[in-house]
Amino acid sequence: MSEKTNALKQEFLLSLADVKTQEELEEIRVKYLGKKGLVTELLKDMRSLTPEEKKTFGQEVNVLKEEVSEKIAAAREEIKQAEIERELALMPEFDVSMPADLRRGSYHPITLVQRQCEEIFKSMGFAVEDFREVVTDYECFEALNIPKDHPARDMQDTYYLDNGQLLKSHTSAAQNAIYKKYKDALVNEGKPIKAIFPGRCFRNEATDACHENTFFQMEGVMVDKNISISNLIFFMKTMLSEVFRKDIKVRLRPGFFPFVEPGFELDISCLICGGEGCASCKHSGWLELCPCGMIHPEVLRAGGIDPEEYTGFAFGLGLTRLAMMKYGVKDIRDLNSGSLKVLSQFTDDK
Ligand code: DAH
Repeated sequence: MSEKTNALKQEFLLSLADVKTQEELEEIRVKYLGKKGLVTELLKDMRSLTPEEKKTFGQEVNVLKEEVSEKIAAAREEIKQAEIERELALMPEFDVSMPADLRRGSYHPITLVQRQCEEIFKSMGFAVEDFREVVTDYECFEALNIPKDHPARDMQDTYYLDNGQLLKSHTSAAQNAIYKKYKDALVNEGKPIKAIFPGRCFRNEATDACHENTFFQMEGVMVDKNISISNLIFFMKTMLSEVFRKDIKVRLRPGFFPFVEPGFELDISCLICGGEGCASCKHSGWLELCPCGMIHPEVLRAGGIDPEEYTGFAFGLGLTRLAMMKYGVKDIRDLNSGSLKVLSQFTDDK
């Protein structure tokens, strides 16, 4: 190797030893291998050489060029590795051998029964509707045949807002809107109104094992020509036997609600104590699960439906109660507790 070539190589090796970053390395690459780089410049000296010398010198420069390229590539790899190691050192320690936490979230028991009821009613041709939690006095009471100062308002200790609206105290508050939404299809196309509307309700209750200020109901209505109490009983029985997947003792007794006439209380035998009497059923052995009745003519009229021509039934299923019965939850307060220990035990067993 000629002296000049050797000197250039030594100089290159020296500067490479100091390189720490990719940017510095790139500078060196350009300095030696670039178009006007030192290695390329060497070739300019060839002009004064004999053809024989040119050949040897050319080969020498090519060998140097290759060597410089290889060294630069190796240095690039080394710098990359060093960077990775530096980053790893900054990361918190991570034990790859630790078993993964495979716990997943679970549905709330009320969501589970709500969905199950929705499926059952959908299969019987009911639409599932959603409704606001903040409603008007008209929707919650007036349209349901509960005028201002009616004593029935005392049954629902309601949370009123400053703007005169209120937190819905029962899902019946959606009835008026549902009638108005579907009445044209009923009258013009003869399509019966069949809808359920689950929702969260609020009342200023003193809480105990079976009372909460926040609870879930699922309202349902069916309106058509010639709807009778037999239709009501059929749908209620079908729904309960599907939900519990066993024979449930049921009783129907008269109940008063201003928006139905006649009105009923549908009770089921308490599944927590088997009908013996416990705190969950106020020691009666029975639980009020689904008040219901034939829709009052005034309520139909307020919804734009002629009560001379159409009749219907309505029910207000206590979804929270249903979840408690189905899953054997003894204290209603557990459902809103947010305690994962309680809430993660339930699965959709269908
Ligand atoms: N909205 C009533 C309540 O929460 C329950 C109810 C009773 C709903 C009778 C109905 C019904 O649809 O027909 O106390």
